[in-house]
Amino acid sequence: MASPPPSPTVAPADGRLGILCVGLGAVTTTLIAGVELAKRGEGELVGSLAEMGTIRLGKRTDDNVPRIRDFVPLADLDQIVFGAWDPYPDDAYTAASRAGVLDQARHLEGIADALRAIQPMPAAFDPAYVKRLEGTNVMASVDKRAMLDQIRADIATFRDENLCDRVVMIWCASTEVYIEPGPAHADLDAFEAAIDANDPAIAPSMLYAYAALQEGIPFANGAPNLAVDTPVLRTYADQQGVPICGKDFKTGQTMIKTVLGPMLKARMLGLNGWYSTNILGNRDGEVLDDPENFKTKEQSKLGVLEDVLEPDRFPALYGDVYHKVRINYYPPRGDNKEGWDNIDLFGWLGYPMQLKVDFLCRDSILAAPLALDLCLFLDLAQRAGLGGIQEWLSFYFKSPQVAPGLYPEHDLFIQLTKLKNTLRWLQGEDPITHLGMDYYLSD
Ligand SMILES: NC(=O)c1ccc[n+]([C@@H]2O[C@H](COP(=O)([O-])OP(=O)(O)OC[C@H]3O[C@@H](n4cnc5c(N)ncnc54)[C@H](O)[C@@H]3O)[C@@H](O)[C@H]2O)c1
Repeated sequence: MASPPPSPTVAPADGRLGILCVGLGAVTTTLIAGVELAKRGEGELVGSLAEMGTIRLGKRTDDNVPRIRDFVPLADLDQIVFGAWDPYPDDAYTAASRAGVLDQARHLEGIADALRAIQPMPAAFDPAYVKRLEGTNVMASVDKRAMLDQIRADIATFRDENLCDRVVMIWCASTEVYIEPGPAHADLDAFEAAIDANDPAIAPSMLYAYAALQEGIPFANGAPNLAVDTPVLRTYADQQGVPICGKDFKTGQTMIKTVLGPMLKARMLGLNGWYSTNILGNRDGEVLDDPENFKTKEQSKLGVLEDVLEPDRFPALYGDVYHKVRINYYPPRGDNKEGWDNIDLFGWLGYPMQLKVDFLCRDSILAAPLALDLCLFLDLAQRAGLGGIQEWLSFYFKSPQVAPGLYPEHDLFIQLTKLKNTLRWLQGEDPITHLGMDYYLSD
């Protein structure tokens, strides 16, 4: 087995880190409010591995388990400054109030001034890609070259005005309509020509991602639309040495699927069907109510089980699985999603069983910590000189971006092991393989 490459030198996390969020909706405002409250000692960043997690070093008997934040150099919360684009003109306070995720009196009033200070920049927005929204805070033109140039100008202004030493960008905007990677995304010449021709294959998310890479800024994609997941931008990120990752935050039902799916397979239990349905009443749910936007999400949610279960390798167990995913827009629930799973499985000699899951979750409460971790870890990757796809961040995504020819690893705990081994490698520590023979074999 090849030994790992030498550990890189990681530059310190000195100076200010700008986090540019595309979209100032439920997830972004919940992220910003949480960080602001935590900075004041008024909130715990529950759900953030970077902030609350630990990492074992060495043997189990060594009792050496530092906090991740103390082990790798991450930007301090005090050093973070936020900016955003959104087609709605609401500042972060108004947008957070409207999203209705956080309790107004308990979590918004005390930080109202800090939130009001975050005004969204006019968005590179084209309603052809997000059917249900009609924003007024948009760039002057939907000409793609003009939007690209304006995003780059906005980044430069944000960086200068906020005295940022480093910047990362994260897509927390609405899910765009479904687009297949095609000739326009093959290489830079084709991509540039498609921008000039206002080719519909170039979505606004791709312009944000391209602008970020041109400016040397890492890019994470929290939604299922392609954005940076095209051959051209993957290659460009490699060439520029800029870290990228995506797609689609793995928060609720799919997180559960990537725990229960591997569980069934680990025990060689069979599966006849998996029916997943959701009710969701926030703006995300409204956008996903449109069939073209839902198709993008559906692809991201459906692929997971097939990759996990490998029906070709285990036809007797998984050769005939009926998998259905539904999202129903239901305004009374707001951001409080309810996700039901009905799982029809079978065991010894084919005897059927059922498993039901009813997850009454809070979408943005689950997504905000992932967004924070991704920004902190992408910044770490950049300081470690890691460019291109950061597969070790698969832990956070429904459709993890991987190198061409690789299948994505979906199992949440394999993803976690990979993430922690990457952190160990970055700091020159041995990976943990869980072999553990040294506890039992004497010399
Ligand atoms: N648990 C979760 O919350 C979760 C999980 C996985 C993925 N996501 C994805 O994260 C994204 C954000 O979710 P949300 O709940 O915050 O949605 P939201 O609708 O509250 O916010 C999205 C914001 O993006 C803005 N927007 C749309 N197009 C834009 C553009 N071109 N440029 C700038 N802004 C734009 C919208 O106006 C809106 O304010 C969605 O795509 C969602 O599918 C969320």
